[in-house]
Amino acid sequence: MSTFIENQKWRYATKKFDATKKISETDLKTLKEAIQLSTSSYGLQPYKVFIIENPELREKLKPASWGQSQIVDASHLLVFANYLDVTEKHIDEYMANMAQTRGLSIDDLKPYSDFMKSKLISLPAETKQIWTAKQTYLALGNLLNAAAELKIDVTPMEGFEPEKYNEILNLNTLGLNASLVATIGYRHEEDMTQHYAKVRKTTEELFITL
Ligand SMILES: Cc1cc2nc3c(=O)[nH]c(=O)nc-3n(C[C@H](O)[C@H](O)[C@H](O)COP(=O)(O)O)c2cc1C
Repeated sequence: MSTFIENQKWRYATKKFDATKKISETDLKTLKEAIQLSTSSYGLQPYKVFIIENPELREKLKPASWGQSQIVDASHLLVFANYLDVTEKHIDEYMANMAQTRGLSIDDLKPYSDFMKSKLISLPAETKQIWTAKQTYLALGNLLNAAAELKIDVTPMEGFEPEKYNEILNLNTLGLNASLVATIGYRHEEDMTQHYAKVRKTTEELFITL
């Protein structure tokens, strides 16, 4: 655990990436696995993650990201895109996966499937979208933690225009919405932010023990 805390102290939201440094295929595979293993409500994973390497596409996304340099300078740009809707089909596909993975029959899973459907399907569209978008933040958390273990830098980013991302990446037609961006790579030695002390509430301010 001591290394986990040390790595959390090492990590920071990188402002300037070293554009000459690329993440290896092996490390990228590990980061993808960390995202894949993230927890989600009911286990539904109601999102897709786009990994954008294409430099022209990233140049297009930069103005839609408050002009932030990380979009083009980082090794990879990740866009977390939440489902616009949660449908019976999504739940049925998840049940089929669970049945196959755990050697169960679909009938065994019917009570769980019916319960999920009763809770989710009739929710208002906006509530569903907020709920699916929230799940992407859990995946971001896992990415941040796994990257810190590998001494890979990540900038979590909400400083972008989702409508423009949706348009450029054609997300709405796929039933998706851009909820969150993460740029990953290696900090530039000139990024002064890496030397700033972490600003956090004290544990006394943060926790209430009852
Ligand atoms: C959801 C989220 C969105 C953020 N959006 C941006 C962003 O658009 N650009 C940026 O430079 N930093 C962004 N940050 C970084 C935060 O400002 C930073 O994490 C915070 O100040 C705490 O500092 P630290 O992560 O360096 O310890 C974001 C962080 C989070 C968690």
